[in-house]
Formats: sequence, C-alpha cells, structure tokens
Amino acid sequence: MDARGIITRLRDGERLDDAALTWFAEGLASGAVTDAQAGAFAMAVLLNGFSTPERVGLTRAMRDSGLVLDWHLPGPVLDKHSTGGVGDCVSLVLAPALAACGAYVPMISGRGLGHTGGTLDKLAAIPGYRTEISVCELKSLTAEVGCAIVGASADIAPADKRLYAVRDVSGTVESIDLITASILSKKLAAGLEGLVLDVKVGSGAFMKEMGDAEALARALVETAQGAGCMTTALITDMSQPLVAAAGNALEVIEVMETLTGTGVTPALWDITCALGGEALALGGLAEDAADGARRIARALDSGEAALKFGEMVAELGGPADFIERWPDRLPAAPVVQEVRAPRAGVVQAIDTHALGLAVVGLGGGRRRERDRINPSVGLSEIAALGDEVGAGEMLALVHAASETDAEAAAAGVVAAFAIGEGPATLPPLVHQRIL
Ligand code: URA
Repeated sequence: MDARGIITRLRDGERLDDAALTWFAEGLASGAVTDAQAGAFAMAVLLNGFSTPERVGLTRAMRDSGLVLDWHLPGPVLDKHSTGGVGDCVSLVLAPALAACGAYVPMISGRGLGHTGGTLDKLAAIPGYRTEISVCELKSLTAEVGCAIVGASADIAPADKRLYAVRDVSGTVESIDLITASILSKKLAAGLEGLVLDVKVGSGAFMKEMGDAEALARALVETAQGAGCMTTALITDMSQPLVAAAGNALEVIEVMETLTGTGVTPALWDITCALGGEALALGGLAEDAADGARRIARALDSGEAALKFGEMVAELGGPADFIERWPDRLPAAPVVQEVRAPRAGVVQAIDTHALGLAVVGLGGGRRRERDRINPSVGLSEIAALGDEVGAGEMLALVHAASETDAEAAAAGVVAAFAIGEGPATLPPLVHQRIL
C-alpha cells in the first residue's frame, strides 16, 4: 500500500477499506505520509465525501494512531463535546456535576477556535491550573476526583494533530466527514462508554443553519456509535451567547455563580441538566434523560458539583480555596466601559459571531496560533434577545486592557445588536435530539 494509490482511489470515487484508512492514519502519525499527500487526501474527502463505513474507519484509525485509554472503575466513563460557541462554559459545570452523580469524566478539551471560546483557555484563567498533564496523571486524577478537564497530550490521536494542521492551511476544514473523524478520534481515545454531543446552531455557531447542524449531528452520532461508543446529540441554540459573558475569567465567574448558587444563569443550568441527563442515561446512572436531568440538578443544588470542581482545581495546581475565594482569585481587566444602545427598542437579533470576534480583538482569543491570551478581557452583562432597552442604556460591559481596545470593541458590539420594534422571537434552548 502507498499514499499515492490511496489518494488516487479517493480521487476517482472508489471506496476505501479499513486497511487503507488504517495505513493512511498510521502514515500521518509516523510521518510516512507527507504534508502534500495529507492535503490531497483531505481535499479528495471534502470534494467526494465519505460513506458511513469510511467515516467510521478513519475515526477508528485516527483514534488508534496513539494511546487509547482503558479503565477499570466502579462507574461509567462519560463525556460531553460541544461544537463551540460564544459564552459556552457548560463543560466547567457539567464535568463536576457528572462526577458528583457517580460518573468518571476524563474530559480532553481544546483551545478556542476562531470566534469561539475554548474550555482550556477558560481554565487557564484560574491561577496555577495545569491543562497539560500526562495520560498517567489524567487516569489517576479521573479515578480519584471523578473528573479532569485537560488538553490532549501528544500521544492522543497524533494522526489527527497532523491532519488538522494540514486542513487548517489547505481549505479543507469544512468537510463534515473530516470534522467528525477529528472530533471523535480525540474523544474516543479517552476510552469512553458514553458521549453526549452539544451541536450548536445559530449566529455564534460554526453551523449557522439548522440543515448543516443536523447533518453534522447525524454524522457524529452515527460515526461514534459505529465506532462502539453510545452517543446522543442535542442541537442547541447559539443565536445569542449562552451566558451573559464572553471571555475567559468572565465566563469562569458565571460558572462559579451557577455552581455555588450565588447567581444561577438559567440557560447554563438548563443546558447542563439536559446534556448531563442524556449522559447519565447512556451510562446507566439514570432511568432516562429526564431522570438524569433531575440528578444533575440535585448535584448542582446540593453543592456537590461545586465541591468536585474545587477538588479538581486544587489537584491540578489551582488555589485550594477556589470555591470559597474565587472572586479574589480571578484576574480583572483595568478598563471597564459601558456599551450603550444607539436607539430604544427590543433586541431582535444578535450577531453572536461578531461578539466572539470582539473578544478575540480584546486579546481574549487568538488571531495566530502562538498568540498569548489575556484571561481578564471580554464582555459581561450582555443584553439578551427580547430585552427592552432605552436609547443610551447599556447593551454590555467591555473589559479591556486599554481605553483604545475598549473603544474598538465597543464599536463592534453595538453593530452586533439589531434593535427594533415589537416583541422578538425567542428560540428554544434545545432545538432537537438526535439518537
Ligand atoms: N474541532 C476539532 O477537533 N476538529 C475539527 O475538525 C473541528 C473542530
């Protein structure tokens, strides 16, 4: 077998068998496949598409290109993955809530991508928190605490690392087949028994249209199940930020308020319960998703999820007193400026993508791979769809490193809000459930 032969077959519309896909994934990991060949492969998949067995085959092969964890624990190993959005800090609440319900959650997460925030960047706002740990430490921490949210080490799905970097510069990121194999190869390498997927749709999601979100959700569920992991997807709304803040430390504040009951955000609470309920049902810890949602709500309400979060933070190098002292422990930006509504009316629509880009512009996300993130900057008190505002009233607060940065971000934020007459159409939080 050789790379050229495999690419030619793909180009000519022939189907690839598992042996060819495994050969290619191993070649990506070992370096036997060149960047040019990886790019041609990705383009052929994007143009011709994969069949379901091919998508499952590539996912399995990329998963197996590195370490695949195995577990012997008294409870199920579960996880959640989100396709990404703005103000989406669900993972930080859900992982400890699942752990409090008896699940084990080795949550291998990513950094921000484009206009969306990343779970690892949010956690990096907590002083001392280590997101880079060995697989050995991930295993022991998950077994001991019940959850560990960390980055993928080099030995997890190395074929995906190679292919992802090539896709990024070859115009092939958008392929649903490749997105599916990329996301799932990393997630399934954690040795999961059940996975719940949060596929976002709307102005702040990568999938702006319902048809695209549904196609991605179906591909993800079908492929994960084909690869042997019980999986459910919820298509959830991203036509506005999930919480009223966007930015790393600012979202951790929202998380801590919800975990400690000092200021619950209903959308964050409800989505956490819905996704967690699905995961507990998959793992046999609840009779069904509704029962699971009730269990997650109890874990949040009782403070058990908060305790798990505090334990995880302390074990990973963060402050031992984070649960009690989080307001003093998080960085704050030196400039805080109000963004004012240019006219009176009701918030009819929000360009959530633009809000995400405003946060990136403030330094809360990356424009280039090597950019350093400023954890303190971002937006808070963001007005929601349906909110009534008077002319000159506040639409959001900008947290910035300088007055100049704040002015630039404020202009982008004002432009992101469509304010008009009459009541707004409010979208449901969960649009669809895909089994
Ligand atoms: N996240 C991934 O890990 N891979 C993709 O291709 C897209 C999002």
